Amino acid sequence: MRLNIACIPGDGIGPEIVAEAKKVLAKTASVFGHEIVYEDLLMGGASIDVHGIPLTDETVAKARAADAVLMGSIGGNTTTSPWYQLPPEKRPEAGLLKIRKELNLFANLRPAVLYGELADACPLKKEISDAGFDMLIMRELTGGLYFGERRTVEENGVRKAIDTLIYDENEIRRIAIKGFEIAKKRRGKVTSVDKANVLDSSRLWRKVVEEVAADYPGVTLEHMLVDNCAMQLVKDPAQFDVILTENMFGDILSDEASMVTGSIGMLASASLNDTKFGLYEPSHGSAPDIAGKDMANPIATILSAAMMLRYSFDLDAEADAVEQAVKTILNRGYRTADIMPKGGDVTGCTLVGCRQMGDLLADEIK
Ligand code: IPM
Ligand code: MG
Repeated sequence: MRLNIACIPGDGIGPEIVAEAKKVLAKTASVFGHEIVYEDLLMGGASIDVHGIPLTDETVAKARAADAVLMGSIGGNTTTSPWYQLPPEKRPEAGLLKIRKELNLFANLRPAVLYGELADACPLKKEISDAGFDMLIMRELTGGLYFGERRTVEENGVRKAIDTLIYDENEIRRIAIKGFEIAKKRRGKVTSVDKANVLDSSRLWRKVVEEVAADYPGVTLEHMLVDNCAMQLVKDPAQFDVILTENMFGDILSDEASMVTGSIGMLASASLNDTKFGLYEPSHGSAPDIAGKDMANPIATILSAAMMLRYSFDLDAEADAVEQAVKTILNRGYRTADIMPKGGDVTGCTLVGCRQMGDLLADEIK
């Protein structure tokens, strides 16, 4: 198979982690007999430096023409980087929001899994982490507060900022369907998260999710208020299978979920539209403080590449091979700095850099 992949290394640790993902993909392609063609594209700060804007129309067109997009991370230090002296619509993050919208990537899948090998890194009490957890956050990605009209005005000498939160039933239905479809292939439970005790958009969300649920008798639906969900994620994360939620809640809850795994450097994500097309990126940011030091953990990007093989190319055996390699290498005790046991027992663990982790994983695919 020929895989046409648009690649956005981005900023900070982005280029390093994407290089390792390419290494693992190259090995996978050679073992399974595929050909990969990359088109490298600029986005975020890297694009600002060259074009003055974080995303050009040409980049969007090239991304659209590919089968899938593999991305590293974008953005820099928000207090020191000159990118953040620019008006908001010209900053790195604006490029990410624009590409999500332009490519209609409304479904953001963020798995949060507690790896047995990394259970020590979980910040929760042992009696909670012992139960393990494996959840998937299905976050709506192209609507809500992120894309509503916003402005800052001054009225009678008082500055006022306005953001609007809008969802129509079609936007809710299509993400709910994605949530139920994936729950069907997992453990058959959807927790729909909203703030229906306050917000109209959440009350509509609840109604539409219930309508969709009627088509999935095999899937259990429960509703949970977002503040309670934030609490339940640290109290009893094992209760969750699929968390289905709107854009802003999903942004916040997915960071929380990744933190309780203790290994944000391990968490992949996929942003999908209605076709097989998707944009795949790690759940973490660009970590400018460790950029260029060969310290970053490339596993989240490599697991995102595995999601790409699975969702955009239907290459399940190939995706399994990549995921299995990650487990094997962790089992053998190899750790990047972020997942190295701290202060505790490091027996059997070997500290490796970003490149060596990529080499180990690529070698493991046979
Ligand atoms: C994420 C990030 C983005 C978001 C930022 C960088 C705009 O936090 O992907 O979760 O809020 O969606
Ligand atoms: Mg976020």
